[in-house]
Amino acid sequence: MAASHSTHPRSNFTGRIGFVLATAGSAVGLGNIWRFPYLAAKYGGGIFLLVYILLVISFGFALVLTETALGRKTGKSAIEAFDALSHKWRGIGWLHSIVPVLILPYYSVIGGWVTKYFVEFLLGRGAQTAAGDYFTAYISQPASPVLWFLVFFGATYIVIMCGVEKGIEKVSKILMPLLVVLSIGIAAYSVTRPGAWEGVKYYLLPDFSKFSPNTLLAAMGQMFYSLSLSMGILITYGSYMRKDIALDSSVRQVELFDTGIAVVAGLMIIPAVFAYSGGDQSALQAGPSLMFITLPKVFASMGIGTAVGIAFFLLVLFAALTSSISLMEAVVSIVNDKTSWGREKSCAVTAVVTILLGIPSSLGFGLWSGITPLNMTILDFFDFITNSILMPIAALGTCFFVAKVIGVKTIIDEVKISSPFKGEKMFVVCIKYLAPVCIAAILVSSVLQSLGVFAL
Ligand code: PFF
Repeated sequence: MAASHSTHPRSNFTGRIGFVLATAGSAVGLGNIWRFPYLAAKYGGGIFLLVYILLVISFGFALVLTETALGRKTGKSAIEAFDALSHKWRGIGWLHSIVPVLILPYYSVIGGWVTKYFVEFLLGRGAQTAAGDYFTAYISQPASPVLWFLVFFGATYIVIMCGVEKGIEKVSKILMPLLVVLSIGIAAYSVTRPGAWEGVKYYLLPDFSKFSPNTLLAAMGQMFYSLSLSMGILITYGSYMRKDIALDSSVRQVELFDTGIAVVAGLMIIPAVFAYSGGDQSALQAGPSLMFITLPKVFASMGIGTAVGIAFFLLVLFAALTSSISLMEAVVSIVNDKTSWGREKSCAVTAVVTILLGIPSSLGFGLWSGITPLNMTILDFFDFITNSILMPIAALGTCFFVAKVIGVKTIIDEVKISSPFKGEKMFVVCIKYLAPVCIAAILVSSVLQSLGVFAL
């Protein structure tokens, strides 16, 4: 066992709804609204959706359940949780813990851009964000993006300072229902635009001829991103879960929430872009710039574009905020468990590190654009290191840890404390065989891509 432990009593979510909404808040983020629609558009629409859903209910479920159970069983955050079960393999916990430290800063930089766009639309200046190179010109400025990064991160900081129950749980209970209402409202408006129906069909009807191994790889990578896997978050949130709350059905609800919002986000964006571009599919290939460059143009072309733009960026802001809250909580609880500094000091230290790493990520698009590790911008570099390298390695480590070190029974027993375990056999197959093979494939493909061997 590790020598240092927090002497502060551990906080808890008050009940099942608190856990489900906070964990769904973590899962539903920029990944659902910004990343999922452009990947779905790029990798064949309906077929991507089908593959994604199959992955989420099979090995996605197994991994989310495992991490949450590890947290609940030990009542600890990542490092201490692995350490408590096997001191020898505590390094896997360290891997999980580095990830949120590196993601939180750049995620908050993107959160800052979202906040800026929301404010622009709110002030009635949304149309100007649709102009030519507004986005690229904006993110390359030295001061304003850093300022909005600090505003966004400041909001995250305040919630975390308020604690698990009064901060995270309360904010999730307010923002998550609002997020559902906003996304359904925008999707309903989007699919009823003239010309949008073709987009709905492209998005929802699987065309099996569009399937390729890349569809599978992209869907797997997205699943990791979207479910907040291998970044210490689920272990931490699991450690705040009461023993009487059913683990397996709570995890299913979180997945349903996360996938539901991703699917609805696709319905907001793909049909609207289809209608705007007159059915030209290449407009959907915009990739990451779909949200910041293409969508403002789509909003500008709509009759009530300003109102839709305000609602849309508010939705993205809520989603990003609940996710950055979970990223920061993961870091703070790791620091606190390791040092016993208490919440305030752990928050302050986390904030300093986040600001120090976030500023270069922001400046990397302008003043520091000459710094290009692995030929990437600083932000993309952090994204690559975490999502493509560290997270798959940490996930492989978790599968190994469960299958070979502590045994699948440890997780199964933890689940059975609160309810019968539906899907137990499937869980064992996934964690022992399916997940390791798929994760190894993601890892190899991302390394090959980064070396330029092939493009996904
Ligand atoms: N799951 C959240 C999202 O989809 O945005 C949070 C998150 C995932 C943040 C992955 C960052 C990240 F790299």
